[in-house]
Amino acid sequence: MPYSSALKKNTYILAIESSCDDTAAAVLHNDKTLANVVAGQDVHKEYGGVVPELASRAHQQNIVPVVHQALRQAKIDKNQLSAIAFTRGPGLMGSLLVGTSFAKSLAMGLNIPLIDVNHMQAHILAHFIKEDDFKIPTFPFLAMTISGGHTQIVRVDNYFEMTVIGQTLDDAVGEAFDKSAKVLGLPYPGGPLIDKYAQLGNPKAYPFTKPKVDGLDFSFSGLKTAVLYFYQREIKKDPEFVNKNLNDICASIQYTIIQIILDKLKKAVKQTGITQIAIGGGVSANSGIRKALKDAEKKWGWTTYLPKFEYTTDNAAMIGIVGYLKYIQPDFDRSRYIENNLTAQARLKI
Ligand code: KG4
Ligand code: ZN
Repeated sequence: MPYSSALKKNTYILAIESSCDDTAAAVLHNDKTLANVVAGQDVHKEYGGVVPELASRAHQQNIVPVVHQALRQAKIDKNQLSAIAFTRGPGLMGSLLVGTSFAKSLAMGLNIPLIDVNHMQAHILAHFIKEDDFKIPTFPFLAMTISGGHTQIVRVDNYFEMTVIGQTLDDAVGEAFDKSAKVLGLPYPGGPLIDKYAQLGNPKAYPFTKPKVDGLDFSFSGLKTAVLYFYQREIKKDPEFVNKNLNDICASIQYTIIQIILDKLKKAVKQTGITQIAIGGGVSANSGIRKALKDAEKKWGWTTYLPKFEYTTDNAAMIGIVGYLKYIQPDFDRSRYIENNLTAQARLKI
């Protein structure tokens, strides 16, 4: 039965995100964020990548304090909550299960709807969180989701009408950053470090070849190998090569990645006729990518949407906005969501 719209005017959503290595909770009042808390997991640093078993254990430790902190910061009592939104997938199964089980139990205890959210949709719909000085996309637009696990170009015709029109055939763009950084001896996650050093370097110092992939799909595994061979070749000639040229190497890797992304976006714009471009996912924090997209507004007449920094890497506010957008749909079936017994799903399509 449709849920009274009067009851939806003041909606408070608690959102929980635990798909990878960040335990996050947020509270939203309608489409505005009241609190957005993220606990990262330093435990993975020494392993050069996320260790699933350690991630789920850390989620278990973090989830209660993170949720408490979000409610406290938002000054909201759990009895005021209208619904709970949680990440159902995609992600690491052990990690997803912690957030899913916690959200299920809390929603059941409070007898409120439990709203399942697709993490990749959330990276896109994060643009609908109301923030001063940030514009909200109008439909249709193209979303480029670039993270540690995904690289997709998505045509977005409405909140929940999305079509993937291009994606990576192997590594995600975040992996290209992180694996290249690992070759250079930088700690995990290396993406933000490459970004930092790239800002001081010459992007054309070391040309890396771009992969040739048909259509709107991507491939990043070749770049990682090219960086490895380049490293092995240069270090043989001069063991100090990386230390001496880190800024230029990082700038060159980042430049190559940006060119790959821009080439595909240009193709997607040509193919769809859509010139509104939104980016999302952890890699959308990259300063070079942000600058390239800003420049594209003047160069090619695109309208580009860059998320606020706190909504780029994994966070729960983006899960909350999807929960809210589902909750206010006229046909929202409250009873179905009260009895929501969906399980976590490691592979979940948009
Ligand atoms: O969305 P996210 O937090 O988690 C996933 O769903 O994967 O993305 C994490 C990825 C990592 O690969 C990280 O290195 C990358 O985002 N990243 C960056 C930057 N900040 C985060 N890559 C390049 N430049 C950055 N500034
Ligand atoms: Zn993500």
